[in-house]
Amino acid sequence: MGEKWVLMKTAQTPTNIAVIKYWGKRDETLILPVNDSISVTLDPAHLCTTTTVAVSPAFQQDRMWLNGKEMSLSGGRYQNCLREIRKRAREVEDKEKGIKIEKKDWEKLHLHIASYNNFPTAAGLASSAAGFACLVFALAKLMNVEEDESQLSAIARQGSGSACRSLFGGFVKWIMGKEEDGSDSLAVQLVDEKHWDDLFIIIAVVSSRQKETSSTSGMRESVETSLLLQHRAKEVVPKRTLKMEEAIKNRDFASFAKITCADSNQFHAVCLDTSPPIFYMNDTSHRIISHVEKWNRSEESPQVAYTFDAGPNAVLIAQNRKAAAQLLQRLLFSFPPKSDTDLDSYIIGDKTILKDAG
Ligand code: DP6
Repeated sequence: MGEKWVLMKTAQTPTNIAVIKYWGKRDETLILPVNDSISVTLDPAHLCTTTTVAVSPAFQQDRMWLNGKEMSLSGGRYQNCLREIRKRAREVEDKEKGIKIEKKDWEKLHLHIASYNNFPTAAGLASSAAGFACLVFALAKLMNVEEDESQLSAIARQGSGSACRSLFGGFVKWIMGKEEDGSDSLAVQLVDEKHWDDLFIIIAVVSSRQKETSSTSGMRESVETSLLLQHRAKEVVPKRTLKMEEAIKNRDFASFAKITCADSNQFHAVCLDTSPPIFYMNDTSHRIISHVEKWNRSEESPQVAYTFDAGPNAVLIAQNRKAAAQLLQRLLFSFPPKSDTDLDSYIIGDKTILKDAG
């Protein structure tokens, strides 16, 4: 190996939005959840992370930049992902550049990682999901790792739980698994992005400010104090997950919308049942819920589903383009951006597939 080369790979990974929420861990270090969850992967044009990973004998240490700002890689989550990927690294040869990296060389070589989000970081728009999925995917490409997307998802999971679901497009299930070592806690694709391609997603960015309680600490407090969380994980989610899988398989929007809204509301009820209570939604979020509920009830069948993660932003899933157009018209009328409703902007897009830009 000469000293003057740099080998790089770039990947782009969209974020995902859970329609059956993950909230609560049974193992904090391995990031093992208390229930299964299901998500839809979004369009990378609007909400995605692009990560370039580089390796060179000239690099003195592992370093990472997020949106141009250097950040520490000392956290356990990054270290776990890097360790697991390095373990699986294989020989890489680039004949054109005259580079050959043997399996054993990967232990000595250092990495530089540059990551960009095209959306506000940590504002309840699942930035960690896209971030860790993209990091693991890009490193796997660089290091010629053989593992498939599900196996990689179990590594991304150790960066951030929801990240494991961003390794696939379409609808994705994170199976909680039973094993203590977490080897069976991974994501599988339920259907690809073509299966239900008339769905349309609009995100009402109620606030792009950083959230006060992170998902990680919020769910820890819920596990410690909420009885509703225990009931939800044991009694509600297992049945709901089966029904959701059916609804997705049959493209049954009425059931899909009913379950999606109910699950978002129960997740926020768990947050209220936590001591001290956690408020992720604000008045504008509540008004959006009322608006959609009223509209859905005035039609023969629901037109739109809503779901809120650990923040006030509404993710609205419309049955088709026509319903999306009507929804947008209603939203712009009742919640004009940058008004006293405290609404920042709207993000409009399809759901889609993981793109490998490498
Ligand atoms: C409300 O995956 O961000 O978005 O595993 O601690 O990193 P950590 O938490 P994170 O939590 C996401 C919670 C959620 C629901 C979901 O995406 O399923």
